[in-house]
Amino acid sequence: MFESIPRRVRVVEVGPRDGLQNEKAIVPTAEKIAFIDLLSAAGFGVIEATSFVSPRAIPQLADAAEVMAGITRREGVDYPVLVPNEKGMRRAIDAGARVVAVFTAASEAFTRANINMTIDESFAAFRPVVALAGEHGMRARGYVSTAFGCPYQGAVAPEAVLDVTGRLLDLGVYEVSIGDTIGVATPDQIAALVPRLIALAGADRLALHLHDTRGTALANVLAALQLGVGTFDSAAGGVGGCPFAPGAAGNLATEDLLYMLRGLGVETGIDLDAVVRAGAFLGKALGRALPSKYAQAALATMGDAP
Ligand code: HMG
Ligand code: MG
Repeated sequence: MFESIPRRVRVVEVGPRDGLQNEKAIVPTAEKIAFIDLLSAAGFGVIEATSFVSPRAIPQLADAAEVMAGITRREGVDYPVLVPNEKGMRRAIDAGARVVAVFTAASEAFTRANINMTIDESFAAFRPVVALAGEHGMRARGYVSTAFGCPYQGAVAPEAVLDVTGRLLDLGVYEVSIGDTIGVATPDQIAALVPRLIALAGADRLALHLHDTRGTALANVLAALQLGVGTFDSAAGGVGGCPFAPGAAGNLATEDLLYMLRGLGVETGIDLDAVVRAGAFLGKALGRALPSKYAQAALATMGDAP
């Protein structure tokens, strides 16, 4: 039944950025670095490390430069960082980032709440970012938030998602990650939007970034796999959410995603046990059990192993 799905999938680990940005209590820089180093050892090709945004917007990630200086970068692993404007880009360059991610949305109301810009203004802000990336031999990824629903505006038209995706591609990003920021999507919405996105971007330039607020993220991944999507963002432990998207809960948990992909015979090159250990480390740092269902089951039998 699942013969047509991609045999290999890229998993983009976003826990150190999307996971931590929603945590109120400041996690010590050394623990963030240790968390990223554990993820590096697990075999990811891409680990989103932090954000060079306003420290007033996201106090948790004010130590972005220290985190980038402290991690042990593995050969062949990308460590993208979020950058909203030229100021953030200059900080990212100084910190030695090689890949950045610009982020906008398919709804005006969320874009205003998140980055205090209109969608048009966000593209004006990204132009110097992408130009600087080119000058420094860096690559840029792009995000489209609220692709399946907006916490302020409600429904979002697929045409708005396609329009913003096309504009990001025109800007020169190597991949567009389509965000279900508040975890409202159901598989019928994936089936309606993804073929149009693939027609526009090509499957190899498309990623899905699903939050699991309503428990539909894995069902949405399965639907997207069947449509040919081969890149998914997820966060170890299932942490995450955006402080400017009220009610947004964690990202799809990397452990749950890897478990399903392994069952489907899809290769990722990532060691699931090592991700469980990284998530357990983060859980200790945050002082609570994390939502990943697979991790909870595994840790119940692993005892104190992590
Ligand atoms: P603003 O207040 O309109 O900007 O914020 P401003 O240009 O007027 O600057 C205000 C102050 O911030 C100034 O400092 C600037 O220098 C400083 P002051 O003079 O008052 O002392 N500033 C900066 N400092 C450090 N780094 C910077 C920077 N830029 C300005 N880059 C701004 C606009 C975009 C800066 C702000 O709204 C912001 O940083 N927003 C980021 C919000 C954010 O990180 N949200 C979460 C990430 S998006 C997400 O989670 C969704 C995603 O996961 C996908 C999905 O799930 O859908 C990606
Ligand atoms: Mg997110």
